[in-house]
Amino acid sequence: MTQLPLTGTKVIDFTGVQAGPACTQMLAWFGADVLKVERTNGGDVTRNQLRDIPDADALYFTMLNSNKRSLAINTKSPEGREVMEKLIREADVLVENFAPGAMDRMGLSWEHIHELNPRLVFGSVKGFAEDSPWSDLKVYENVAQCAGGAASTTGFWDGPPTVSAAAIGDSNTGMHLLIGVLTALIARDRTGRGQKVSVSMQDAVLNLCRVKLRDQQRLEHVGYLEEYPQYPDGKFTDVVPRGGNAGGGGQPGWVLKCKGWETDPNAYIYFTVQEQNWPRTAEAVGHPEWADDPEYDTAAARQPHIFEIFGEIEKWLADKTKYEAVDILREFGVPCAPVLSMKEIADDPALRADGTVVEVDQKGRGTYLTVGSPVKFSDFTPDIKGAPMLGENTDEVLAGLGYDADTIHRMRAENIVL
Ligand code: COA
Repeated sequence: MTQLPLTGTKVIDFTGVQAGPACTQMLAWFGADVLKVERTNGGDVTRNQLRDIPDADALYFTMLNSNKRSLAINTKSPEGREVMEKLIREADVLVENFAPGAMDRMGLSWEHIHELNPRLVFGSVKGFAEDSPWSDLKVYENVAQCAGGAASTTGFWDGPPTVSAAAIGDSNTGMHLLIGVLTALIARDRTGRGQKVSVSMQDAVLNLCRVKLRDQQRLEHVGYLEEYPQYPDGKFTDVVPRGGNAGGGGQPGWVLKCKGWETDPNAYIYFTVQEQNWPRTAEAVGHPEWADDPEYDTAAARQPHIFEIFGEIEKWLADKTKYEAVDILREFGVPCAPVLSMKEIADDPALRADGTVVEVDQKGRGTYLTVGSPVKFSDFTPDIKGAPMLGENTDEVLAGLGYDADTIHRMRAENIVL
């Protein structure tokens, strides 16, 4: 396939940090021409954050901005804003995730953008929805995890609310925005009219905590949650508790120790007791007698002593590595997986082979690893390229808008562009 699905789609990427860039990066992978518009003084803050090589853009930046071009311009200057307005007139999509009110303060309100280009789809990420009492707050990942119900329901019951390592506030919000932007583009192709697509990080986190809102209502109806470790001996209050590593659905599960756990922090598997697979599960872990024992043969009978069962399974696991254990359990249809470290993931040949872990060439750095598209297509495989240097494409973009070399030179001398 020579043309990618979004070839010809022009995207102004007025984003920073992670939520917005994650959305526009995927648009770029799928073929859109994504122009990252950045401040002249340093660009996206992530270029400088957590650097591992002194003069090279940080991995935080390169891993979220591949396949893009970069225009470095002061959009608060009258000439800079004029450039933005020209770009907006020609674009299909503009995505931003600045602090609340920043776009309006720059003179680029949705109303103005819509007037400049009624066909343009405008994607916007904020921490909270416009009508939220907290709509004026600046928000980063963990703030959103706390406000979206994830932190209060994550971790162990005897510890504090806990955030997840997964970027469910940032990248997840970007993915929600991506769905919205693509939907609005399809609508635009039918109606000729662009629209504003807004996603709040609080809402995007909550969308992934749907099952916890389920549990809140179950708790109110029955007073307990039988799949949580607090059942049957612990106390339930009127809020969904933190359930440690319990399985979130109707199939109990837990993280279980394997051979070597004393020294290897990841020598564990996740083990699921699948109701419909109980006899084979019992056989797999060396307790075939559990299949017909009334103490064990139904989920209801097992639940009160599920941790004894897990303890017995850990005895069976004691002389098996996590990989050996999974190899045995897979034969018996037990839903399970080894707990993989980031090092194991980076080295995993299968993840490399299917384009999920990708080695990318980056100017000024050499090669580095990134996560490729988790979405696979039968007609094409996204080709992940390097990220742009700050202002790498300033001249070609301005020339494309009709600015001559002298004007560009003057704008650079006046710090309007880099
Ligand atoms: N030229 C000139 N000025 C520019 C510019 C450019 N090319 N690009 C941005 N700016 C300005 C903005 O207009 C803003 O100016 P103002 O505050 O005077 O109005 C200023 O730079 C800073 O913007 P921003 O990066 O948004 O502010 P911040 O560093 O204080 O806050 C966040 C960062 C992430 C907390 C904030 O942007 C935010 O809450 N965003 C929404 C939620 C979100 O996406 N969070 C991050 C998830 S990864």
